Amino acid sequence: MSADAAEEQRLTDAVVARIADAPDPRIRETLQALVRHMHAFVREVRPSEAEWATAIDFLTRTGQMCDDRRQEFILLSDTLGVSMLVDQINHGRDGAGTETTVLGPFYVANPPLCANGDDIARGLAGEPLFVEGQVRGQDGAPLANAIVDVWQSDDQGRYDLQFDDPDMFFLRGRFRTDSEGRYAFWSIMPRSYPIPSDGPVGALLGAAGRHPYRPAHVHFRIEGAGCDPLVTHVFVSGDEYLGSDVVFGVKDSLIADFERRARTTPLAGTSIERPHRYLRYDFVLARARGEAATG
Ligand code: BEZ
Ligand code: FE
Repeated sequence: MSADAAEEQRLTDAVVARIADAPDPRIRETLQALVRHMHAFVREVRPSEAEWATAIDFLTRTGQMCDDRRQEFILLSDTLGVSMLVDQINHGRDGAGTETTVLGPFYVANPPLCANGDDIARGLAGEPLFVEGQVRGQDGAPLANAIVDVWQSDDQGRYDLQFDDPDMFFLRGRFRTDSEGRYAFWSIMPRSYPIPSDGPVGALLGAAGRHPYRPAHVHFRIEGAGCDPLVTHVFVSGDEYLGSDVVFGVKDSLIADFERRARTTPLAGTSIERPHRYLRYDFVLARARGEAATG
């Protein structure tokens, strides 16, 4: 090893050793790993001082872009695939339960509770969509009284939160499953859309030769007694961005056919004669960690 390489390694070892007495073992382990990986990154990339200043400026602008409505650091994590990696580590199902994806920045807790069959488009223009399905536990039993939170973009790929008007509210709702674990609602077809790309993360995507689009999807967050809350999306099959989602959120099991239909007979009711798209999607909630199996 050259003297210069040895000095580089001595620096890394000195910083790692300086953290060795951190009182909290988790903080110690995390910080030491951070230092080792960051130093390895810098030794591999060997940035010029100007390049390092550019990196610091990028992170500074990323922080300055954040406020109550915009979280540029989460977008950075999303677009580098880190959010999905953290999701996979925490919610890997190994086949038990519906697969998960990121929550995203457009979730709003506690939207109004709707009755099954209500229309969350509330008069918004678009191609009508009827969505229904059943929520079950890992043991296969239907979950009554599960809370099914849904939100999605409009037919232009916009969420209500993206309008400057705080009174703007559309395409969200909360449903309670019936005694058979069923939920149902009317909506309109969502559309693929670009994530907010007018900030540093958008510039980074451009520099990497990447587009900013997510394939069309409907978001779900489902809570049932004794189960892990499920955060996921259902993606529209055939969307041009399924293979290149900017946040790496697509999993094959979450791609569904939004059928074209002239008439539908909901699981729980009488026929509805009206041309529309139809999605049936059933969810399986994994048992909460620490809950004993009963079946
Ligand atoms: C979303 O699907 O709403 C979303 C997720 C991650 C980043 C931006 C948007
Ligand atoms: Fe979304």
